[in-house]
Amino acid sequence: MTTELRRTRMVGLGGFVPERVVKNDDLKQWMDTSDQWIQERTGIRERRWVDWDKKIGSSDLAVEASKRALSDAGMVPKDIQMVIFATLSPDHLFPGTGVFLQRKLGIPVGAAVLDIRQQCTGFIYGTSIADQFIKTGMYDRILVIGAEVHSTGLDLSTRGRDVSVIFGDGAGAAIYAPAVDDVSYIISSHLHADGNSAEDLWTEYPSSKEMPQLDPAEVAEGKTRHFPQMKGRQVFKHAVPRMAESVFEALARNGVPLADLKMLIPHQANLRINEYVQKQILGLPDDRVYNNIQRYGNTTAASIPLALYDCRREGKVQKGDLVCLAAFGAGFTWGSVLMKL
Ligand code: ACO
Repeated sequence: MTTELRRTRMVGLGGFVPERVVKNDDLKQWMDTSDQWIQERTGIRERRWVDWDKKIGSSDLAVEASKRALSDAGMVPKDIQMVIFATLSPDHLFPGTGVFLQRKLGIPVGAAVLDIRQQCTGFIYGTSIADQFIKTGMYDRILVIGAEVHSTGLDLSTRGRDVSVIFGDGAGAAIYAPAVDDVSYIISSHLHADGNSAEDLWTEYPSSKEMPQLDPAEVAEGKTRHFPQMKGRQVFKHAVPRMAESVFEALARNGVPLADLKMLIPHQANLRINEYVQKQILGLPDDRVYNNIQRYGNTTAASIPLALYDCRREGKVQKGDLVCLAAFGAGFTWGSVLMKL
């Protein structure tokens, strides 16, 4: 006897970015850089950073994005049975940021809360996990969030400029529930990782491996291993084929031609990565790949839900459209989700 599994659909979507706009030229107050360098290499014109005086964490941005997703779904916090929180910039080392969101938003005590650490691929992993729980019937309403406050953890000196000009703060949230028809549902998800390149994009400290964790000489020089480090060319070299593979895998698994894809929502790592994938590999026209990194920078786990949120608000996708979400990030991790929106 075979048991037919349920299918999952996205019933709510929300995005939120802080008000403070930081333009490329604004970065010159901390580092030696230029608008031209940043735009040519990354496509970024500006990003949003939290107001540092206000002690705003990833959970705070997540609250706002989640409220919008709940409103979109016609739900209230008490409807949520499970939270999956993806971030690389948690409020604290532990406990996970999801429980802070639970408390601030008023999600019922006793709900399941799970934090995941898949960086730029976090929303893809989170969506896939939610899909499994809904398919098996364990939960009916799951909130998946990607939220980041990068700006408080970057090396803003010239030494760290290759990384710090890229990242922005923001949050995106989606609510998943059982599908009710053949119009809107998750078709498949695909998850991958390769730990061989873990140190090519990482923040080394704090680390449980070493004590003491702060080298006073390094701190005195303004250099600490608590800042993110990136081998930019290595990231570029892996990101391009992995993002493209993720799209091809999702389409091939379901026998769907690329021509049927209404919109690709790639992780907003760097406009040059996305343009290379779009033009050199997939051959898709501009109106079938959505980017908003120009306005927000790279918001890591938040980037895909934020992009999908903006894309839908701009009327470029609507219910029932075939959409592919694809990501690549630290770990390395990569993957995709194919869905009818
Ligand atoms: N402003 C001005 N000059 C800069 C900056 C900056 N922000 N950053 C680096 N430079 C300088 C360097 O110091 C170097 O100067 P030098 O020639 O005098 O030594 C010069 O620019 C070139 O530096 P490279 O590191 O060789 O720059 P590259 O051309 O490789 O570009 C970049 C760097 C944009 C990061 C590129 O490697 C890239 O696009 N990599 C992809 C990685 C990426 O985008 N990651 C996003 C986050 S990861 C993710 O989401 C998956």
